[in-house]
Amino acid sequence: MRRAIYPGTFDPLTNGHLDIISRACRLFDEVIIGILVNPGKQPLFSLAERMALIEEVVKPVHPQVEVASFSGLLIDFAHQVGAQAVIRGVRSARDYEYEQPMVLMNRRLAPDVETVILIASAENSDLSSTLIKEVFSLGGSIEGLVPDPVIRKMKERK
Ligand code: PNS
Repeated sequence: MRRAIYPGTFDPLTNGHLDIISRACRLFDEVIIGILVNPGKQPLFSLAERMALIEEVVKPVHPQVEVASFSGLLIDFAHQVGAQAVIRGVRSARDYEYEQPMVLMNRRLAPDVETVILIASAENSDLSSTLIKEVFSLGGSIEGLVPDPVIRKMKERK
């Protein structure tokens, strides 16, 4: 049983995340989306809302996906759930620079857990939750950038 964690903040889930999830599902029997509980950040959506949105959008398409939350070290969470791999999506050289030290530190802490870097398709490669929230809050269209249930929830929140 090959199991991977896809960790992140997912505030909110974007089509870029979905693209990475689909690719991860081709490689692993089970993919656990791990939402980081970060008390230092004020998210748009609560943890429960983010979990529910991901379940609603992803589960029907990819039944092998589980959604969970974690705090503390990612690698401890990986061991807890018995994952052999961590999935990360990289969009640019800047992302790579951010990821590389994390990959090496996580490897130092847990050499048994491998990080797998995936690249989304070109049309989903520039999507960031932060930019999407900014565009939406200023009245711009985010059609096609996030799944429809996310747009619906963002409109409710406005
Ligand atoms: O989607 P994000 O916000 O870029 O995700 C960052 C994440 C969750 C992968 C990273 O912040 C993380 O792993 N946090 C858990 C704490 C931890 O393990 N830190 C040491 C990393 S080397």
